[in-house]
Amino acid sequence: MLDKFKPEHVNWRHYFGGLAFIMIILQLATGLFLIFFYEPTLADAYKTVQRISNEIYGGGLIRNLHRWIPGLLFIAVLVHTIRCFLRKDFSNQQKRVLWLTGVLLLLPLFLLIATGLIIPWEWKGYWFMEMVPNYFGTVPIIGPQLKSFFMDTYTIPRYYALHILVFPLITFVLADYHLLVKVRKRGIFRYLLKHTIAALPFLILLFYLAVTVQIPSADPQEAPMPLEGANILAPEWYFLIVLLPFMYLKNSPWIPFISIFAPLLVLFVAAFMPYYLKGSKGSEAESYEGHHRAAGIRLVWHKLLRNNLVRKIATGIVVALITLFFAGLIYVGSYNSPTFGCNSCHNISKGERLGIPPQFFKDRSKIPLLNDNEWMMRHWYYPNEVW
Ligand code: HEC
Repeated sequence: MLDKFKPEHVNWRHYFGGLAFIMIILQLATGLFLIFFYEPTLADAYKTVQRISNEIYGGGLIRNLHRWIPGLLFIAVLVHTIRCFLRKDFSNQQKRVLWLTGVLLLLPLFLLIATGLIIPWEWKGYWFMEMVPNYFGTVPIIGPQLKSFFMDTYTIPRYYALHILVFPLITFVLADYHLLVKVRKRGIFRYLLKHTIAALPFLILLFYLAVTVQIPSADPQEAPMPLEGANILAPEWYFLIVLLPFMYLKNSPWIPFISIFAPLLVLFVAAFMPYYLKGSKGSEAESYEGHHRAAGIRLVWHKLLRNNLVRKIATGIVVALITLFFAGLIYVGSYNSPTFGCNSCHNISKGERLGIPPQFFKDRSKIPLLNDNEWMMRHWYYPNEVW
């Protein structure tokens, strides 16, 4: 029954890769809609976002889809990566371009999340952009230069151009090497149709979330409580993980290592794995036969594993556990992040100062607190205690 929907020549093991691709297409489509209503200026950005949410027909749904898709995309990419890793795709010399482009794709996707978080220019976007220079300021030697680079060059239109043009282009080029070349040969519409059908359960979940869990943008009448939405996944969670050292390791030299160098190192070491790990050229099945000629209980175990269904269930459970582990880390690191709550204090009814992000971005002499990473992290996590 399921095989009827199974995309041709595409094994189920690429299900989550296909799901990620569908999510990227949907993100493009919803983004294209938002482009027509969003205004990239300090004074009007959030006003136009509010207008999209509250006045444009279908705008609220589209905006919230555009916010929820990164979450599902992230999970799809995570499962896809773990499965490829367990399959040891990195040791398959024929697949090394696939592996390289797959890992590198993470970078533009992350940068898309970062810029997408900033450009609505409500309090979260503003806060996040204030953190960026501080974050890069911790890099040894060139830190101060990096910091002033981000301070001097930031404008909303520039980051908007990165978000709608530069990073999507990089994503497209990498995706072309990663899958589009092959998909085009097979017929792209066929591929999309079949994968969309296979992804239906997730699409239904996506629409359900976008309708029921919306980002409040109708201030001040419907201001949420300060910590409301604390357990709801939001794009900023992925970054709060790397920012956490700021909260716990005050002025430690380890901060840039843990939050900048280590993640980058892991990324590049992973990306080039097939180039320094010379693995077998043979298929998975051959190496499987070759390695496992054990006796006794191990033989029974391997006979069991050779049974396709048992094997699928076993790997399914392992993949689910590893996914839960990583997703759990992100959850634990960010569970206090008030997805909705900034609006409860930072809305226009509380006066100019707290109303909308100030016009004087970059003017840290007026708000010295903005140079204090620790204060900013604590205000993010415990806004009702630290301000
Ligand atoms: C409980 C009320 C409250 C909540 C909730 C709250 N803030 Fe604040 N926030 C304040 C107050 C009060 C100040 C002003 C401090 C001052 O005047 O120096 C402030 C200051 C700031 C500043 C410094 C800029 C400035 O103008 O002083 C930033 C940035 C900020 N908040 C971001 C956020 C973000 C992001 C959130 C949501 C995660 C948030 N705040 C949630 C009360 C709150």
